[in-house]
Amino acid sequence: MRNTRRRTAILISGRGSNMASLVAAARHHDFPADIALVLSNRPDAPGLDYAKEHNIATAAVDHKIYVGRESFEAVMQQMLEMHRIDLICLAGFMRLLTPSFTQRWQGRMLNIHPALLPSYKGLHTHERALADGVKIHGCTVHFVVPEMDSGPIIAQAAVPVLDSDTADTLASRVLAQEHVIYPRALEMVASGRVHIEGHRVLGACPRVEHAPLVVPALDEEEDG
Ligand code: GRF
Repeated sequence: MRNTRRRTAILISGRGSNMASLVAAARHHDFPADIALVLSNRPDAPGLDYAKEHNIATAAVDHKIYVGRESFEAVMQQMLEMHRIDLICLAGFMRLLTPSFTQRWQGRMLNIHPALLPSYKGLHTHERALADGVKIHGCTVHFVVPEMDSGPIIAQAAVPVLDSDTADTLASRVLAQEHVIYPRALEMVASGRVHIEGHRVLGACPRVEHAPLVVPALDEEEDG
């Protein structure tokens, strides 16, 4: 086993399906990141149970008992240091972080967002995409910077928007792709294969090797 695996903390607030996809990827010994801690701001987050069942260290730092974000983040920082964390993956972590915390972790903290950034920053991304009538939607993994949902993009996946879609069906198709790209993005960052140049993350896609996603598909049969 390599001893250079980057010690990674996953920060969650809820069910933790993205966390589970990262845990599953990191079970392979040649994966360059090791999930060393799952931390939640909600002591009752279902994802914590999953982490415990998989013998991963967990911590709950309940934001409600701290006065102000700084003291809450100071305790999180202590936990991260105690577990000698190199990288952070935010995975459905529903607290805004202060500029000083994000700057401290700049280039070492990733987030998954359920939209093709820079479109649809913030909440209710699927509802907004449907309301706008876009034909292609998706998800993004990016580095975290002080401005919300705005850091350099590491990976994206696109899905077609179907005529029959509701916010729920669209969300579940996007979520399936989140589970594909988040482990991939962590792998790229933890192995040191990508670097940031300006606002671009380079090294992840050196060649043309993908078919374009065209909606409606060019070979689609007409429905009578
Ligand atoms: C995901 O849709 C993610 O993109 C967003 O919050 C949701 C978390 O879901 N940031 P889960 O807890 O990973 O299942």
